Amino acid sequence: MRPGNQTTISEFLLLGLSSQAEQQKILFVLFLGMYLITVAGNGLIILAIGLDSYLHTPMYLFLANLSLADISSISTSVPKMLVNIQTKSQSISYGSCITQMYFSIVFVVIDNFLLGVMAYDRFVAICHPLNYVTIMQPRLCALLTILPWVLSNIVALTHTLLLLRLLFCDGNTIPHFFCDLAPLLKLSCSDTMINELMLFVVGLSVITFPFALIFFSYVCIVRAVLKISSTEGKWKAFSTCASHLMVVLLFYGTIVGVYFFPSAMHPEDTNKIGAVLFTVVTPMVNPFIYSLRNKDIKGTLRKLVNRKSFCPLMP
Ligand SMILES: *[C@@H]1O[C@H](CO)[C@@H](O)[C@H](O)[C@H]1NC(C)=O
Repeated sequence: MRPGNQTTISEFLLLGLSSQAEQQKILFVLFLGMYLITVAGNGLIILAIGLDSYLHTPMYLFLANLSLADISSISTSVPKMLVNIQTKSQSISYGSCITQMYFSIVFVVIDNFLLGVMAYDRFVAICHPLNYVTIMQPRLCALLTILPWVLSNIVALTHTLLLLRLLFCDGNTIPHFFCDLAPLLKLSCSDTMINELMLFVVGLSVITFPFALIFFSYVCIVRAVLKISSTEGKWKAFSTCASHLMVVLLFYGTIVGVYFFPSAMHPEDTNKIGAVLFTVVTPMVNPFIYSLRNKDIKGTLRKLVNRKSFCPLMP
C-alpha cells in the first residue's frame, strides 16, 4: 500500500461503553464516582505515607508508588471518557489517541512490575528477616522503584513506534472507551503482524516475570509461615502479606477471567471488560484493600484527621 493513496486520519471516534443514549447518564455518574473514589483513596495513601516518617519503610514507599501509578492509570482513560459523554462528542485527535495509548500501557505495566517488587520485599521480610535491613538498602529500593518506570516506558515506546508506522484508511471508529492498543491494531489497514507478535511477546513477559516472582515469593512465605509455631505469630506474618495477596489475586484473577475464560462473550466485550477492570476497577479497590487491612495506615490517617492544624475547617 502506498501512503500517497491514503487519506490520513486526523481523529478517531471512541464509541464508548454503550451506544444507548439513556445509558450515558448512568455511565457518567458511575465512572465519575469511581474516578473520584480512586483519586481520593490513593491520594490519602500517598499523603499518609508521605507525612508519617514512621511509614518510610520500603514496603510503604512501594505502596505509595503503586498508588501514584493507580491514580495515573485511571487518569489516562476516564476523564476523557467523561468529557466525551458530557459534550456528546466521540472524537479524539490522532495525537491524543496515541498519547493516551502510550500512557495506558506505561501505567498498567508499572502496576504489574510494582506488584512483583512488593512480593520480593515481602519475600525478603519473611524469609530472610535477619538480613532484611542489609538487603533492602535505600539504593536497592530506589532501583526497584525506578526500574518499573524505565521498563514500562521502553515497552510503551516500542509499541507506539510500531503503531506509528501503521496506516488507518478504512475507518476511524474505535469500539472502546479509550485508545487501547488492541482495537487500534484491528482498525489499521496495514499489516499488523509484527505489532501483534510484539504485543504477545512483550505482554507475556511483562505478565510472566512479575507473576513468577510473586509465585515463588509466596511459596517461600507460606513455608516460613507454616514453620512458625505460635498461632499469633502465624497470623501476624500472614496479615502483612494478606493485602498484597488480595491485590495480586484481583489483578491476575482479572487476567485469567477475562482472557482465559471469555466463554460466551463477544471478543469486543471481553476487551472492554478487561480494560475496565484493569484501568478502572483495580486502581479503585487497591487502596481499600490496603487501608482496610492495614493498622499502620489507618492509624496515620486517624492521626491526620485528629490533628487540628492539619485541617483548619475542622472544629
Ligand atoms: C517511590 O519510592 C521511592 C523509593 O523507594 C520513594 O523515594 C518515593 O517517595 C516513592 N514515591 C512516592 C510517591 O511515594
